[in-house]
Amino acid sequence: MSQKPLHIVILAAGKGSRMRSDTPKVLHCIANTPLLMHVVDSALVLQPEKIHIVVGHGKEQVIDAFKTYPSIELINWVEQTEQLGTGHAVSQALPSISGSANVLMLTADVPLIKARTLRAMVDAMATSPLVLLTAILSDPDGLGRITRDDTNAVTGIVEQKEANANEQAIKEINSGIICADKESLDGWLSKVNNSNAQKEFYLTDVIGLAYADGNPIAALHPTDNAEVMGINSRVQLAEVERLYQRARARALMEQGVTFIDPSRVDIRGDVQIGQDTVIDINVVIQGPTRIGSFVNIAPNCVITASTIEDNANIHPNTVIDSASLGAGVNVGPFARLRPGTVLGDNVRIGNFVETKNAQLDVGAKVNHLSYVGDATVGSNTNVGAGVITCNYDGANKHKTTIGKDVFVGSDCQLVAPVTIADGATIGAGSTITANVGENKLAISRTKQRQIDGWHRPAKNKT
Ligand code: UD1
Ligand code: CA
Repeated sequence: MSQKPLHIVILAAGKGSRMRSDTPKVLHCIANTPLLMHVVDSALVLQPEKIHIVVGHGKEQVIDAFKTYPSIELINWVEQTEQLGTGHAVSQALPSISGSANVLMLTADVPLIKARTLRAMVDAMATSPLVLLTAILSDPDGLGRITRDDTNAVTGIVEQKEANANEQAIKEINSGIICADKESLDGWLSKVNNSNAQKEFYLTDVIGLAYADGNPIAALHPTDNAEVMGINSRVQLAEVERLYQRARARALMEQGVTFIDPSRVDIRGDVQIGQDTVIDINVVIQGPTRIGSFVNIAPNCVITASTIEDNANIHPNTVIDSASLGAGVNVGPFARLRPGTVLGDNVRIGNFVETKNAQLDVGAKVNHLSYVGDATVGSNTNVGAGVITCNYDGANKHKTTIGKDVFVGSDCQLVAPVTIADGATIGAGSTITANVGENKLAISRTKQRQIDGWHRPAKNKT
């Protein structure tokens, strides 16, 4: 039976009223990625024929969130115009599945589910036409409970609102993730009605029907209960975010990354970090980002879509976005590297320096209070404190080219477009508007004068 084609149905049509939000629940994020996308990512690992996503509430917004999703061709959007329950939602998707198949049903609000667990469920279809994912929780409040007979066989799922006191005491819950044989599922669903507390067609009623027909029902558990944590409210969203972050930090620690406090670091998206890198507190790293080995990242840094090579030192309060940093660089504290920044090995960027679309070659230094934008800076060049590349004339951006071994004195303005050749020296306080030749000294400030017999103005006597 496990050889049958696999189709995955993801339920994502509900409003998520308990979120109290104008945004559809499934687009709320864990680690910057919508809940639904986490589920689709895991589903894809199983290489299904198709992923049928049932959308309804806010469907345009939901579909739009996937417009650049890499495996979009595997997704079939199915509309559920009225949210009449989880069973009704699944019924909307089944006509898109032809022939015999295993149907794995996921809910978009259970985002931490692992592909490995789903794989085990599909494998269990070899011996059972219905496989549930259940968990034993100390606090099962609000969830469907698993009922069993005296041989311990699963007999059904009772929703909390329908459950009597005995059933409410059951700690084994329905994760909402169910795998079923397509043909059997068709039959069971056709018998589900909405005579219950919520006047909804419950998918969970299928289990009782399958039991009544004498089918063996398998119930698997995830290795970690975090996998089946559902999100109905913002409180649960925050709890699941922490579980997710703890798991990511643990995985990185197992690969040799040190976190001074793993509960005070956030990792979002595709992030790789090398061995013996040390990450201090309040650091946010957003993918796609690759950080090498023996890198030190001090407190309060935000690193997005960047690469950082080995032995780099990122000092506190540094913001790095879409930049590429060579080995052994020293950046910050309080530096801001904006998109298009490329630092060669051993470059030094100091406090209150902003760079944008700037390439700095090996060993260049910009140590204090500067703006380097739309510029190239040659190797071993020293840019003094308070130097500004004036790249914008009010209409267009222009480029500043600085050669190698240049010394730019403090408080200079380099008015682009302008080129400063290798070995040149720029006197402090200069405004450079013309190109400077190799090894030349350029200085544009007025000569200092001293005025004798000058008196500082005195306050008028009234
Ligand atoms: C559901 C299960 C419950 C289980 C829990 C696990 C049912 C009846 N109950 O309850 O047994 O313990 O999940 O988290 O299945 N949806 C639709 N269309 C609808 C209704 C819901 O697409 O008409 C989608 C929602 O967007 C959501 C999912 O189905 O992604 C589950 O719906 P939700 O209302 O959250 O169900 P729960 O009350 O959590
Ligand atoms: Ca739910």
